[in-house]
Amino acid sequence: MPLHRRHVLKVIAGAAIIAANPVRAQQSAKAQRPWLAAGSFETEPRRLALSWAVLAPSPHNRQPWLVKMQGDDSLLLFCDLDRRLPVTDPFNRQITIGLGCFTELLVMAAAQQGLAANVVPFPEGEPHPQLDGRPVARISLSEGAAADPLFSAVLDRRSNKEPYDMTRRVTQDNLATLARSCANGTSLAGTVDQGEVEALRTETIAAMEIEMGTRETAMESVDLLRIGRAEVDARPDGVDLTGPQIEDLAARGILTRDAFRQEITQEGYGIKSLRAPDGNPLVSQMVDYAIRPMRATPAYIWQVSNGNTRADQLAAGRDWLRINLAATASGLAVHPQSQMLQEFDAMAPLFRKVRTMTGTEGSQTLQMLARLGYGPAVPPSPRWPAETRIVD
Ligand SMILES: Cc1cc2nc3c(=O)[nH]c(=O)nc-3n(C[C@H](O)[C@H](O)[C@H](O)COP(=O)(O)O)c2cc1C
Repeated sequence: MPLHRRHVLKVIAGAAIIAANPVRAQQSAKAQRPWLAAGSFETEPRRLALSWAVLAPSPHNRQPWLVKMQGDDSLLLFCDLDRRLPVTDPFNRQITIGLGCFTELLVMAAAQQGLAANVVPFPEGEPHPQLDGRPVARISLSEGAAADPLFSAVLDRRSNKEPYDMTRRVTQDNLATLARSCANGTSLAGTVDQGEVEALRTETIAAMEIEMGTRETAMESVDLLRIGRAEVDARPDGVDLTGPQIEDLAARGILTRDAFRQEITQEGYGIKSLRAPDGNPLVSQMVDYAIRPMRATPAYIWQVSNGNTRADQLAAGRDWLRINLAATASGLAVHPQSQMLQEFDAMAPLFRKVRTMTGTEGSQTLQMLARLGYGPAVPPSPRWPAETRIVD
C-alpha cells in the first residue's frame, strides 16, 4: 500500500470522519435561512407560498424546482434539467416525485392563505423517457380553501437519517395514520413484523453496497458532495458534510471530492474492494455511515401507485410529502431508502425482489420505500433561497 494511503487510513480511523454523528449538527446557518424566512417577508400570495414550498424534500436534496409566474394568479413549475440524477434516476422518476413534494407544499401554503390551488400536471404533455423543458405543472390560485392540519408540521419535517430507537415500537395504528394521509391516489403500506423488517434491511444494505460499489453511481453521489461549510453555503443542495472534523480533514486535503474520485477510479474498484480492510477507506466510510442507521430500523413503509405516468409520479410526490408530515405530526421519523428502486442495470435483481417483497404487482409502481421509527432531533437541511428558483 502506498504510504500516503496508509496515512489517510490512519487519520480516517482516528477521526471516524463520516461515521461520526455530528455531521449534520454543525449545519451552516446561511444554508438554513430559508427555513427561517418561510412565511415572512413576502406579501404576494404565490411568492409567499413559494417561500414554504422550497422546504420540500427531494432526492439528494437537489431541489429541482423552477417557477415562472404567469398572469396575476398562476405559475408554471419546471424541472431544472441540470438538477437531475441521470445515472441513479435515468427516467427522472424520483426527481418528478421531488417536484410533487414541492407542488403539495405549495398547495398547502396557498390553503393557509385561504387560496385554493388548481394543479394541472404536465399541461403541455408528459415527457418520456426523460423530462424536458415543458412545464411539470400549471398551478392557479383562487379564493376559497381551508387550511390543512398537516401544515403545522412543515417546519419540523425531516428526512431523518439517524439510527432509530429500537426500544420504541411502531404500531399498526401508526401505519394506518400515515396511510390515511394520502390524498392523491397513492397507497401506503408497511411492516412492523421483525422478520419482514430484517429481510428488508438486509436488501436495503445490499442495495447501498451495489450503488456505492458501482463506479458510475458512486461517482454521481461523490460529485454532489458539499464538503465543509463554505461549500454548503455556496451550493446549498446535494449531500452536505459539515462539522469540525470535516473542516479539518478538508483543509488538509484528505477529505476532498478528488480523493473520493481517486478511490472510485482505481482498478478493481467494486463491492469487493469496499469490503476489503484497506480497500477504499473514504468510500468505505461513506458506506458505513449510510448503513449504520439502517441497522436501527423498527419498521418500513412503502408507497405504491397504480401506474407510472408522469402524473402518477407527481401525485406520488404530493402524497409522500403528506406521509412525511403525518409521520412528523405523530412524532415519527422517516428516511427514504431509494437504492433498490433505482433503475440502472446492476440494481435490476434487487428492484425485482423488492417489488415481490412489498407485494407490488403488474402495472403497480413502487414509488417510495422508507425506514420508519422514533429518531433523535436533527437540524433542517440546506436550501437555496426561494428567490433563486424564480425564472422569467
Ligand atoms: C424521491 C426521494 C427519494 C429520496 N431517496 C433518499 C435515499 O435513498 N436516501 C436518503 O438518505 N434520502 C433520500 N431522500 C431524502 C432526501 O435526501 C432529503 O429529502 C433531502 O436531503 C432534504 O432533506 P429533508 O427532507 O430533511 O428536508 C429522498 C427524497 C425524495 C423526495
